Amino acid sequence: MGTGLADNVSQGGAGGDQFRTAPLWGVGQRIFFLHDGRTSSLITAINAHGSNGSEANTSLNTAAALSLSQQQDLINFLRSL
Ligand code: HEM
Repeated sequence: MGTGLADNVSQGGAGGDQFRTAPLWGVGQRIFFLHDGRTSSLITAINAHGSNGSEANTSLNTAAALSLSQQQDLINFLRSL
């Protein structure tokens, strides 16, 4: 996930800036997001995908290019899970 979410913990083959991709099922019922619970905002959690070395940079750019209405649809979908 790059430098922005790195916790420098190595587990198995995953280095300090790598994580198992989080399952999003149930994310709409949660109050805090990301591995260290650093935010209660889905938008902040999504934006945190973008940082130096993150494999999710392309997805974040795609999401940022959506219309405001489409971005709201994405948030509503996540809240429905
Ligand atoms: C439409 C695209 C995406 C959306 C809406 C999305 C959304 C989210 C959200 C809401 C979380 C927080 C989940 C939680 O706290 O339980 C999350 C975490 C995460 N996502 Fe994504 N994600 C997307 C694409 C990606 C991609 C492309 C990757 C990897 C290449 C990725 C990897 C991860 C990882 C590793 C985490 C956990 C990070 C951490 O806990 O610090 N995601 N995602």
